[in-house]
Order: sequence, then C-alpha cells, then structure tokens
Amino acid sequence: MEINFVQEINRLKKEKNAIILAHYYQRPEVQDVADYLGDSLALSRVAAKTDADIIVFCGVHFMAETAKILSPNKKVLLPVKEAGCPMAEMVTDTLLQKYKDEHPDVKVICYVNSTAKVKALSDVCVTSSNAEKVVSQYIGQKLLYIPDKNLGIYLREKFNLDMEVWKGFCCIHNDVTKDQVIKEKELHPLAQFIVHPECQLEIVKMADFVGSTKGLLDYVTKSDCQEFIVGTEKGIIHQMEIKCPNKKFYLLTQNLSCFDMKLTNLEDVYTALKNEENVIEVEESIRLKALKSLNKMFEYTDN
Ligand code: 13P
Ligand code: SF4
Repeated sequence: MEINFVQEINRLKKEKNAIILAHYYQRPEVQDVADYLGDSLALSRVAAKTDADIIVFCGVHFMAETAKILSPNKKVLLPVKEAGCPMAEMVTDTLLQKYKDEHPDVKVICYVNSTAKVKALSDVCVTSSNAEKVVSQYIGQKLLYIPDKNLGIYLREKFNLDMEVWKGFCCIHNDVTKDQVIKEKELHPLAQFIVHPECQLEIVKMADFVGSTKGLLDYVTKSDCQEFIVGTEKGIIHQMEIKCPNKKFYLLTQNLSCFDMKLTNLEDVYTALKNEENVIEVEESIRLKALKSLNKMFEYTDN
C-alpha cells in the first residue's frame, strides 16, 4: 500500500511531540508540511524557544547544527545527512586558528553558514538578515569576515570597515552574471530586480533591493511593484507566489537552485521522523563556545 507521507508526517509529529522547521529553499512540498518556515535567523529563533522534544530540520547541516547548539536537550534530526552547505566547508577550524594566531588583535565575524567548530573560534555570528546591524557594532575595529567573500565585501563597502574577508562563496549565488541580469531586465522592463547579498557586489549594485531571503519576501509583499526578477534560490518563489498571488516572479536564472537544499523530499522527512535517525550532535565544549558567538549576535539584534 502506498504511504501518504503528509498524513503520516502529521501523525508522527503529534505522537512524538515533534516540529518540522523548513528553510525557504526547500522543495515546495517540504515547505508545505513545515510548522515553521523561515530564513536561517528565524529558524534559529524557533529552535531556541520550542517546547517540542524533536526538531526535524529540513535544510542543510549547519542549520540543524545551529538548532542543536541552541537547543541541546532536544533531538535534532536532519532528514538527509549528506545535505551540507559547500560554503560552510570553505573555512576550517584549523585554518581559522592559524589566522587567529597570526592576527591576535582581529575580531572574527562569522556568517552562520559555518560549522560549530568555526563558530566556536569566532567572536560573533551573523546571518544575512542581521549582518548590517551586527557589524555596525564593530566599526573602527580590526575585523575578519568568514567565510562568504561577497557578503563580506558588501558589508565592508557599506560601513567602510577595516575588515579582511575570507575567500569562501556560495556556488549558487556567486555564479550570477551581469549578462544574465541585463538580459532578464530587457525581457521584463517593468520588473524590479531583487537580490541576496551572497551574489557578487557588481550584481548587488544592479539591484533595486538587496536583502536576506526573508528580507526579499517582505519586500515583494509590501512593494507596489507587480513584477520582480528574483536573484536568489528558487525555493523562495513558492512563498512569494503564496503571499502575492497577483504579482509575477521571474527567477533570474534556472541555475539558482541549491543542490543540497533540494536533496530532502517528503519520504526523507517521514523516514527520519519515524526512525528518529540522522541525529545531530555537537560536542559540549564546542557547543558552549559556539553558543557564545550566537548569543552575542542575539544580544545585538534583539535589544
Ligand atoms: P538566509 O540567511 O537568508 O536564510 O540564507 C541562508 C543561505 O544559505 C543563503 O544561501
Ligand atoms: Fe549554502 Fe548557497 Fe545552498 Fe545557501 S544556497 S545553503 S549558501 S550552497
């Protein structure tokens, strides 16, 4: 007999006091079974506060790991254990420690797309939603931004920071080209171009609006404009179309699809929850240090 995954997921959620968190870049059908849908910042807040016993994190490894850091007593499951973020692997704790030994006076600002071990060596975390607010607290200090060069360069230019940037990047956003933007603008002259800051600065400068995943969703919801060229991962368009059924959204290029985010399907969510498998663990001494960097971020953004 064929399993109705949506029904079974809902039944298991109640039986096990579990919640499902899904990032906006997940497949539409996975987004639709989530209790909470959000960007990395919103989901980390939910993970920190939930009363659930189990968190099923439909996203990539660093997001589930962040949930575990914030909620150590919960069981955190990542439905597909191979779902990672290539950018998060572009800085290692060994390389970061070496940099810190050579530059002891530099404060390390760490994008949340990073491993727990790297967060543990950093002074503060940021997400794309709060990076501007957090870095503005560090103006005038010597800084290193890891691992995303594009967001780092964007912040450095905006706040005139004394900041080195690591050479990491998101292989999806970093590949967007000027020609793609020009071509799409020609095809849709009435549309506004909106973009995630993980794209290169020359692309960000062509945009009518730059923002995090959630920032882009809020922008299109409030804007009077009726058409948008979307310069971020295609999963967000599902929510844009739900929130704004009368507006038109054009994905800048079909390449804006994150392989790792799309690995998770409904069957994976069902199987992980049923068997309580792919449990995320973070060693306690690392967790406590990484938590300090995350709490510093919340201190600057929540007050
Ligand atoms: P958000 O912080 O906007 O959710 O972005 C996470 C991410 O991985 C973007 O590529
Ligand atoms: Fe990582 Fe880019 Fe995928 Fe975001 S879209 S999870 S930064 S690879």
